[in-house]
Amino acid sequence: MDRIIVAASRNRHKIEEIEAITKKFGMRIISRDEAGVPPVEIEEDGDTFEANSLKKAEEIMKLCGKITLADDSGLMVDYLGGAPGVYSARFAGEDGNDGKNNEKLLKLLEGVPANKRTAKFVSVITMVYPDGTALTARGECHGRIITEPAGDGGFGYDPLFVPDGYEKTFAQLSAEEKNAISHRAAALAELEKLLEARI
Ligand code: IMP
Repeated sequence: MDRIIVAASRNRHKIEEIEAITKKFGMRIISRDEAGVPPVEIEEDGDTFEANSLKKAEEIMKLCGKITLADDSGLMVDYLGGAPGVYSARFAGEDGNDGKNNEKLLKLLEGVPANKRTAKFVSVITMVYPDGTALTARGECHGRIITEPAGDGGFGYDPLFVPDGYEKTFAQLSAEEKNAISHRAAALAELEKLLEARI
């Protein structure tokens, strides 16, 4: 029988990816709304992906009393000292405006040669149980930032990120291809290992 798990995120793209990846683990992801969670905003005020991920999972679990899974994720660019990092969603100030975030990133990297445009996506997935137990898993995907957006799949910084070993951006790869190699897939695979070890 599928394990029913509430997604703390309201980001449609993230939920689609998490659903597609966890289906094969026998998890059924339901939305916050389906779980009866009121439309509260959770302030992401932690300095790390781990802190924000735990906070989101704990707060939503307390509101629905069910096993809850949160993803806190972002892009870390080496030339920018790891920025935008935990500020990825609000890099250009307006929360969640992917176009402006991408524009700002390209501007900051103007003239930077290809070999210095290395970056990684990070995803920290936290699963919190009604008894307060928390499991945390981190996944990373390394690659580089190109000089102009390419592709229209995915979300966020996908049109600017080419994963190592590929010549296409995440936005040019199919959902299946991205979900096989992404930071989110790596974190969820790690979570599945932690779950298996608990049984
Ligand atoms: P969060 O909701 O605070 O975890 O913000 C995550 C932000 O990081 C998103 O709004 C995107 O800007 C970026 N991000 C995380 N994962 C991805 C991804 O898979 N593709 C593109 N951008 C991502």
